[in-house]
Amino acid sequence: MIHVGVRPPTGSVTENALVLGVYRGTRRLSVVASRLDRSFGGVAALLMDGFKADRGETRIASLKRGRRLVHTVLLGLGDRTQANAENLADAAGVAARLLITHRAPSVAVYLDDTVAGTLDAGAAAHAMAKAFGLATYRVGKSPAASLTRATLLCAQPARSISPHLRRAQQLVAWMTRVRDWVNQPANVLTPSVFTDDARSALVKHGLRCRVLTERAIAQEGMNGVLAVGGGSRQAPRFLIAEYGMANTRRPLVCLVGKGVMFDSGGISIKPWEHMHEMKSDMAGAASVLAATSLAAQSKLPLRVVALAPCVENMPGGGAFRPGDVITLASGKTVEVLSTDAEGRLILADAVAYAKSHYRPDVIVDMATLTGGVLIALGTRIAGIMGNSPRDIDDMRAAGDRSGEPVWPLPLDDRFEAMIKGDVSDYKNYGGRNASPITAGALIGTSAGTTRWVHIDIAGSSWNDGTGPGYQTRGATASGVDLLLRYLEILAARG
Ligand code: BES
Ligand code: ZN
Ligand code: MN
Repeated sequence: MIHVGVRPPTGSVTENALVLGVYRGTRRLSVVASRLDRSFGGVAALLMDGFKADRGETRIASLKRGRRLVHTVLLGLGDRTQANAENLADAAGVAARLLITHRAPSVAVYLDDTVAGTLDAGAAAHAMAKAFGLATYRVGKSPAASLTRATLLCAQPARSISPHLRRAQQLVAWMTRVRDWVNQPANVLTPSVFTDDARSALVKHGLRCRVLTERAIAQEGMNGVLAVGGGSRQAPRFLIAEYGMANTRRPLVCLVGKGVMFDSGGISIKPWEHMHEMKSDMAGAASVLAATSLAAQSKLPLRVVALAPCVENMPGGGAFRPGDVITLASGKTVEVLSTDAEGRLILADAVAYAKSHYRPDVIVDMATLTGGVLIALGTRIAGIMGNSPRDIDDMRAAGDRSGEPVWPLPLDDRFEAMIKGDVSDYKNYGGRNASPITAGALIGTSAGTTRWVHIDIAGSSWNDGTGPGYQTRGATASGVDLLLRYLEILAARG
């Protein structure tokens, strides 16, 4: 993993590359930037001519110095009034990728103005470290990116910046793990392999973990999990990871994540074109586990429990069928209209389990739940709904900070009416109209009056190539920083 450090913008630059970030409308480099530039060959001043500095716009000049190649990069940061962590991370990611294509091993970065818009020096450092860490991500064991060292040139004392870099490094480490999990093919990452791997990673960070096998899942009455997992030769698992449970006066948060290791659609099988991407249908589970570990590593004054129902949705001989009626762990019955509407069944079970075993203050579920949310909001924004306006507001504030916006959808009882059953309490599909909301509504039937928020990351969990500069193709791990910031908000409120 890339190492990101900090030092003052004085002395000469010995790295292989110097990146100078400038906001739009900058005519001339600042005094400090000019001095850095001169110490590095004085090319940047020439590159400035006609440079618009739109966000992510770059100019690069590569020079031979002795026996090595050095690169001077102008990096556009866009409009100064719109400066925020996400926009800076986007631009920094573009610079990182440019340097990777030029095989530069190390870089020094100086922003002409670190304090702009909603950015202070600490937030800027965090955003850049996050961007460099994530942009150098490579899938699994493929060769590491050439860029292994980045140094932020920053006038603020290192001791005020370093904690932000450490936080970013912890975040990047877990987001990297989430990306690896989500990118792994489903023949490799089965429910048991995933939960074993997750458990060993989580116990290392001091969490208490338990993995329920199929038998225990049956004993708990989680028949939705059993039904969805029934068509696969891979038995379901249910992972529970606890942090801070000894402190019984702290607020208790349950984070529930959808862990469909592969979603073929089951008997209601999907068309083939994008089916291979359904190996990513466990992104919610991966994200809640990561966020819980990060809460522990930050020692947040909360109790956090991650719950991940993990199954493979396959059309085998034991598969559930359209027309089946299932009794969920909540006691409610559901008629299956489509076996491809599987996520809401396992999440309704997991939310019911969370509620009855933990009596939490709030439940958050995160899931790649519906194609409809991708159609409605695209790949950069997650859908959010629930029964608790304050938690939805908190999550929106968290999204502003993490750069992972969530947008509210109006969940009220009119949508629950759309999934009322004919032969059962509910049906698992309410038609194409408002499909992200009716899907969420079924999960909500298990939450009852417990504060509950549902986040649909079907669009934002996967980058088709149009994502911000720090995202690589495939799994994004978006949702991890969002949940962490939300937990920080709850912790601050006490
Ligand atoms: N896992 C999918 C949702 C999904 C779609 C995630 C695209 C990521 C990208 C979910 O289980 C699903 O199949 N939803 C269907 C249900 C419908 C066919 C009943 C949907 O929303 O289209
Ligand atoms: Zn699914
Ligand atoms: Mn499905």
